[in-house]
Amino acid sequence: MIGAIRSVLRRGFELIERPFDHLFGPALNPLAQLGALGFFFFWIVAVSGIYLFIFFDTGIERAYESVEYLSKDHWFHAGVMRSLHRYASDLMIVMLVVHVLREFAYDRYRGVRWFSWVTGVPLVFLLYTSGITGYWLVWDKLAHYVAVVTSELLDWLPIFGEPIARNFISTGTLTSRFFTLMVFMHIAVPLFLLFGMWIHILRISRPKVNPPRLLAVMSLVALVAVSLWKPALSQGHVDLARAPVEVGLDWFYLPLYPLADIWGRGAVWGFLAAFFVILGAMPWLPPLRRAKAAAVDLAHCNGCARCAEDCPYEAIRMVPRTDGLPFPTQVEVNTSLCVSCGICMGACPSSTPFRRSDELRTGIDLPDYSLRVLRERVVATAATLTAPRLLVLACEHGGGARHADGVVRLPCVGMAPPSLVDFILSRDLADGVVVAGCAESACYHRLGVAWTEQRFAGERDPYLRGRVPRERIGVIWTSALATRQFEQELARFGAKITGLPPLPRRVSAASTILSSTMSGRSFPAPEEVGSL
Ligand code: HEM
Ligand code: SF4
Ligand code: SF4
Repeated sequence: MIGAIRSVLRRGFELIERPFDHLFGPALNPLAQLGALGFFFFWIVAVSGIYLFIFFDTGIERAYESVEYLSKDHWFHAGVMRSLHRYASDLMIVMLVVHVLREFAYDRYRGVRWFSWVTGVPLVFLLYTSGITGYWLVWDKLAHYVAVVTSELLDWLPIFGEPIARNFISTGTLTSRFFTLMVFMHIAVPLFLLFGMWIHILRISRPKVNPPRLLAVMSLVALVAVSLWKPALSQGHVDLARAPVEVGLDWFYLPLYPLADIWGRGAVWGFLAAFFVILGAMPWLPPLRRAKAAAVDLAHCNGCARCAEDCPYEAIRMVPRTDGLPFPTQVEVNTSLCVSCGICMGACPSSTPFRRSDELRTGIDLPDYSLRVLRERVVATAATLTAPRLLVLACEHGGGARHADGVVRLPCVGMAPPSLVDFILSRDLADGVVVAGCAESACYHRLGVAWTEQRFAGERDPYLRGRVPRERIGVIWTSALATRQFEQELARFGAKITGLPPLPRRVSAASTILSSTMSGRSFPAPEEVGSL
């Protein structure tokens, strides 16, 4: 059931993301930057909030007037700031909802990845609480409505001895102290939110917390434009003598408020309790089967730290050497953080398939899918190829995973060391190698596509050696559902390979060729550096 919902959602995201990728380019695709945009909007809300606080009167008598003053008399700076504060907060909700749905759709929340999901759940509560307390501070008719419904809801819970809703239905009982408490909460809760956001990303390396500059500028310009076009305004001074009716709701923050009247307070609490329990339990519904964590072989580790640099999940750290070899550090894998993506194996300089079979061990390897098994699969698959002999190294989460012939599946393309491509072509095991991963903006293991591109382009260790004929390497970054697009690109690459002169059995270093790949990207031949 949950799997079916995930597939439908995933298809939906695929449909939207492809045009977004074309429109913005994979690097600027906002759907691939949702977490970073969340942080960005948070900073806009924080800065504009501090600015507003300069003008805001925290006493209940003057709060409404002070907000009116900044919106009307100082609309060109303080008024714009108020609108920025409001609209960036709304965008945080949009970001939150789409971000959660997307992580769910791409199944990036189960197994070892439960941590980011579970630590995300309190963020929902904290973000809504921040927004709802903010609406009280304006002290207009909407604030009155929010105050009454919130306190009625709270009164349903057996927490407070005295019903607090009474405060908001008669003029005499509401004290400035209660209002000051709301001001305090509106400052304190976002601080907890920020702390929660920091914890949320603790277990992933290089989290994207800043969107690309162009995307940030575009978002800010759009927010300022909307703020000038449709400024955020109050809805008339609160009148405690009258029940608040006909207020304009902010549907981003207050969608449940009308339900308190329709369903009743108990049902709203029941819904919220069920929502948070199910949301928190999602990573185990059902749990993900775990492969064995990466294992270190110190005899083949020189402590270069490339694996630690490349691991997307902070699962590797360098520790002082224990085996007497003349290197200062060695690797330690935290098995409870390792998702067995194999990216570390692809990064290790010892992971070279050119070694003799009995020596084919590497510094860091996957017990369930070792470098030796990978090479065996490559050799066995190559033996089945027919012209044009294309060998596909396919990430099991990308478009190539469902292709039938000539495919060696990997947990992530980042697991394939560049020397494997060199090995395949220089041993004449295939006429061309296709590396097929997830769509660039949706790499399942976060950094596999980026590291592969950088390694092939000579920007990251271990490099693809200069002697490897680039025109015989293709990369296809497509989603698992875009199988037709994958087949088309593969056929195009096959046609290109057919037109090439035969491959010499051993390619010499002098035959370095600069050429483009089928995805239109070119891999410049790097210096012959790195120990492949
Ligand atoms: C204020 C709200 C939130 C912010 C600012 C935020 C931010 C982020 C950021 C920056 C990342 C790292 C993205 C990357 O570099 O790959 C991330 C990942 C993630 N977030 Fe959130 N997030 C929020 C709420 C949530 C919520 C409510 C959930 C789920 C209940 C959630 C689930 C996840 C998951 C599953 C990941 C992926 C971890 C992985 O790839 O292993 N987030 N978030
Ligand atoms: S397999 Fe390697 S790169 Fe992947 S999570 Fe485990 S230690 Fe990190
Ligand atoms: S990449 Fe290989 S050699 Fe370098 S530290 Fe990691 S395991 Fe050791």
